[in-house]
Amino acid sequence: MKTVGIIGANGLVGRTLQKEFERISIPFKTELFGRQDDIPSLDAAVLCTDNADSARLCEELKTRVGFLVDMSAHFRLDPAVPLVIPEINPQAITPHTRLIASPNCTTTGLVMTMAPLLPKYRLKEVFFCSYQAISGGGKKLLEEFHTSGSLYENNCVPLIGSLQENGYSSEELKGIYETRKILSLPQVKVYPHTVRVAVENAHSLGVTLKAEEPFILEEVKSLWNAFPNLRYSEEIVTPKQISGQHMTYACRLRRDLEEANIIHYFIAFDNLLKGAAMNARQIIQLLLEKYL
Ligand SMILES: NC(=O)c1ccc[n+]([C@@H]2O[C@H](COP(=O)([O-])OP(=O)(O)OC[C@H]3O[C@@H](n4cnc5c(N)ncnc54)[C@H](OP(=O)(O)O)[C@@H]3O)[C@@H](O)[C@H]2O)c1
Repeated sequence: MKTVGIIGANGLVGRTLQKEFERISIPFKTELFGRQDDIPSLDAAVLCTDNADSARLCEELKTRVGFLVDMSAHFRLDPAVPLVIPEINPQAITPHTRLIASPNCTTTGLVMTMAPLLPKYRLKEVFFCSYQAISGGGKKLLEEFHTSGSLYENNCVPLIGSLQENGYSSEELKGIYETRKILSLPQVKVYPHTVRVAVENAHSLGVTLKAEEPFILEEVKSLWNAFPNLRYSEEIVTPKQISGQHMTYACRLRRDLEEANIIHYFIAFDNLLKGAAMNARQIIQLLLEKYL
């Protein structure tokens, strides 16, 4: 039986992934690793660690772990590393792949609603403003949120990650470059604005999307509803309501008042599930089916 490790098993993503692994239909063995543990030879492992730890661990483990799935941002834009959402670009994994990056949580929700439209619409531009949950920042941020006097208490904080010299936050740059890579749309213009809000879990985004063609709203809804793990809701959907669910939800779809080739909508999804652990689980399922 194949053995798959979870490295960083005590973090928010690592703990969620332990439960997600129970949904995999193929039998395999799971081994859990924290910071102090030695990691033996494994068939595959998911690194639920931050950038610097992932970079170091990938280098150290590449000779003794068959396949590595990394949750951090470190390798995501490396042209040699596929950045994979199984519903969108599973073909990016080839028989030669050994390291796979799982995308940023906010980008994942966004591209889940863009990808289904690509067969019918040439997408040109996307603007989004995110309302990102505290759990997206890891267990330390969640602990900090629960201490009185936290900056995030009753608040919206318009900076996620680090502020870059060009005025963007690192989170916003992920939204631009990861979207282009996952969708293989190097020319698509992305206008991101990312905000941390006082919501414990589940991200949401307001999105404005522009295509070459005029949008037909009923067609957009059907394309979304036909896509795996994505649903259009005629009712409004809120992060609190969908926290713990595997589906990505879109709602409030409307055509721009002046330009028929622009739509506006709202999305909500669980950042720890589709934005992280569910995506990793789907990648491991795919590896078990095809390559392990
Ligand atoms: N949270 C999200 O919604 C989300 C979404 C998408 C991607 N991600 C990415 O997923 C990764 C994990 O995020 P998270 O939210 O789970 O963070 P977290 O709650 O801070 O968990 C990180 C875990 O990694 C452990 N760790 C650090 N170095 C290690 C090492 N050398 N060996 C084994 N374990 C080690 C930490 O151990 P200690 O407990 O000892 O510190 C901690 O338990 C990050 O790269 C993050 O950017 C997160």
